[in-house]
Amino acid sequence: MTTAAVFNPFVPSFKRNPYLQYGRLRQSDPVHRSLALQSWVLTRYDDILAVVRDHETFSSDSRHARGQLADALQQQRRESPLPDADTILGLDPPRHTQMRAIVSRAFTPRRVQELRPHIQEIAAGLLDEAGDRFDLMTDLAQPLPVIVIAELLGVSPDDRLQFKAWSNAVAETTNVMQSAETVRAARRATEELIEYFNRVIDARQANPTDDLISALVTAEVDGARLSRPDLLAFSILLLIAGNETTTNLIGNGLAALLEAPEAMARLRAEPDGIPTAVEEMLRYDSPVQGLVRFAARDVEVRGRQIAAGDVVLCMLGAANRDPEAFERADEFDITREENRHLSFGQGVHYCLGAPLARLEADVVFRTLLGRTSDIGMGEGGLERGGTMLLRGPAAFPVVVQPA
Ligand code: HEM
Repeated sequence: MTTAAVFNPFVPSFKRNPYLQYGRLRQSDPVHRSLALQSWVLTRYDDILAVVRDHETFSSDSRHARGQLADALQQQRRESPLPDADTILGLDPPRHTQMRAIVSRAFTPRRVQELRPHIQEIAAGLLDEAGDRFDLMTDLAQPLPVIVIAELLGVSPDDRLQFKAWSNAVAETTNVMQSAETVRAARRATEELIEYFNRVIDARQANPTDDLISALVTAEVDGARLSRPDLLAFSILLLIAGNETTTNLIGNGLAALLEAPEAMARLRAEPDGIPTAVEEMLRYDSPVQGLVRFAARDVEVRGRQIAAGDVVLCMLGAANRDPEAFERADEFDITREENRHLSFGQGVHYCLGAPLARLEADVVFRTLLGRTSDIGMGEGGLERGGTMLLRGPAAFPVVVQPA
């Protein structure tokens, strides 16, 4: 093994292009021990697939963690406004399976497809307001998924700016190294979210309707209703999980298309190619760059000894560019048919909202390309944002020529 390759997500070049670092690690040190992050960093497709499929060995539950990072995580949990709450994202089976079943029916591809005309209306409305020069992120990519999930949950889409601010504050905590201010802001946001959802949950307990919060308050797991902290944590997860991610899919996707004008022209002429192109956008520049797992027992991966309690970072963005898994892995090919990208994860935690995210992206690109004859970069250019685990533009000014 060489020790030349390092994982350093703190340098500005990582935000611009993490794929160079991933490529070096994948080749020379695919099971990398990062001292700075106190974690293992995995970058090969096969290794990552095996880890995320094996939830018994590689748990999502941070209570398995040991060492310095574990102490920090546990302290965060103790100090969180919902110290006793679990979300499906951080639970293992069997409780994970039971909790997920409560909401999974709302997210089947069939149920989700029924939302298409309405999502179409939302996209058209936002673009009507945006005009010919706008910021893709603030005027379309951010509001659209927030409005859709708010309506599914049964809360007012008019509160969307507030939801967005809360989501941002919580998403910032996906940086492994966090400043005290980031942690404080996330805590404040969670407290406000709790206050907000306490009111909604009270109302639905009194009068259930057919929205998702009503499904949560009336559901029984093992003959018992969910506790108030679990109800709150679940509602907050559903509000937040799909926002930053879908927003970033739209932003990263259009960024890739602007660099490939012939692909953009082709999709404008043949919009039925958009679903395949969306899969390639997901692969090529994944909104979720990495997943965190905790070793539940001592285990060997590619000859390296991972101890029980160790943190394992599975870099999905790296897996998606692995030349062993994808031909011409660094090429953006909107017609790619064999595309088993890992951008929605794999195994028991496979993204619950994948059908919804795919539908939203399909509608957005159909609408955007259908209404324009050209899309160019606006003044100031694209500014990269995101965290170590989430990737997307912070600002994306565009100028469009109406069709
Ligand atoms: C492009 C958009 C999206 C991407 C890239 C994405 C990605 C992911 C990934 C990678 C996971 C697996 C996490 C893990 O294994 O630890 C996940 C889980 C999840 N996603 Fe998404 N997601 C997106 C959109 C959405 C939407 C729209 C929703 C819902 C409204 C959503 C809800 C969830 C939930 C609830 C989980 C947890 C599932 C579980 O633990 O069983 N996601 N997502």
